[in-house]
Amino acid sequence: MSSQATSTTPAPTGPKGLEGVVAGNSSLSKVYGEEGRLEYCGFAIEDLAEHATFEECIFLLWNQRLPTAAELSTIKSELAANAALPAGLWDVLRPLAAGQTLMDLLRTGVSALSAWDDDVAATREVMDPVERGRIEITISTRLMARISTLVAGCYRLKTGEQPIDARSDLSYASNFLYMVRGSEPTEGEERIFDAALTLHADHGFNASTFSARVTAGTESDIYAAITSAIGTLTGRLHGGANMRVMRMLEQIGDVDKVEAFVTGLLNDPKGRVMGFGHRVYKVEDPRATVLRRMAQDLTSATGNSKWFDMSLKIEEVVKATKPIFPNVDFYSASVYGSLNLDPELFTPIFAVSRASGWLAHVMEQHADNRLIRPRANYLGEKGRAFTPLADR
Ligand code: COA
Repeated sequence: MSSQATSTTPAPTGPKGLEGVVAGNSSLSKVYGEEGRLEYCGFAIEDLAEHATFEECIFLLWNQRLPTAAELSTIKSELAANAALPAGLWDVLRPLAAGQTLMDLLRTGVSALSAWDDDVAATREVMDPVERGRIEITISTRLMARISTLVAGCYRLKTGEQPIDARSDLSYASNFLYMVRGSEPTEGEERIFDAALTLHADHGFNASTFSARVTAGTESDIYAAITSAIGTLTGRLHGGANMRVMRMLEQIGDVDKVEAFVTGLLNDPKGRVMGFGHRVYKVEDPRATVLRRMAQDLTSATGNSKWFDMSLKIEEVVKATKPIFPNVDFYSASVYGSLNLDPELFTPIFAVSRASGWLAHVMEQHADNRLIRPRANYLGEKGRAFTPLADR
């Protein structure tokens, strides 16, 4: 009934939140935290956002090289051909729509989609890595195509409207905006939204990607891995921040009220200004730099500078008080707000974009897999004598 502590192995120690820990190998993206730079497969994100489309970015992450014109045309038509959702999926999601957030519906929807993928069962068994890679590119294309239709359709369900089918003649970015709003975006809107998707596509071993890799590392399937990632992205310290930035802007309401609001938040030991701070970047997040410029362009185009002016003021007040900088979520809120997108869509849009990176990481993990299983630094009591229930 009793036992004595017999362990002679000292508990391993590690930094809280795995800060600074290099947890594995990857060739997909490199975050230069001290310099404020980010590259996908060696290409600067500024170049990709300005000169490439999101479809090129997807191909790059999945193949570690830029596509030829023919390859780009193939991936575009494959994404378009797979965008329709199985009708039965709406039978699963419709009863849940009113009471669940969009991220809840997305998580359930992606998990349920595995039921309509005949290829997935094979990938749960032992298989040749090359054959697995071939099947997983097919599954990834299918899921990447469907995730955008899923988010847009769930949004319409929640707002009491019928989901709209994707169009085969529109780009990935344009299709998403079309399926959400029911009308085609302007060329300028498409371009900015496409660049925003590219900027969010991958980011090293961020929390949701790491979660996808841990799930994939057990040789679980793509749907399981992406479902894990969506759950992880949802939290306010990760992808959930962008929606909260918009809620904060709405709550403040006016540029004149920024200083008092933000100072109050910064004086609260538990206060967090959403969209600021980063585990890896010690300077400005390079994605925030591009998004700030995009928000400014949109503001000039629409003539409505309210969110942007407030954001600039928040940045000024935060920087004067603490050495923290805007991250990707801060100006993406003003960009999406200026595109008249509902804040409830902000984190799901992040998921749609990041799915390209998650899928790349799952395939990379499976191509050279080893179970991801770190150790815990045990802090609890040891060797306690057991007390029978009757004596407690
Ligand atoms: N608002 C106010 N203070 C912040 C802050 C924020 N958004 N982010 C970090 N800080 C402060 C902390 O209070 C801490 O100060 P202290 O050393 O005086 O205690 C210091 O900066 C370091 O913060 P820490 O919590 O250790 O950083 P982390 O690496 O664990 O957390 C984030 C990183 C991103 C979770 C954190 O910056 C945060 O909560 N940001 C807001 C949510 C957000 O925008 N998330 C999206 C990330 S892309």
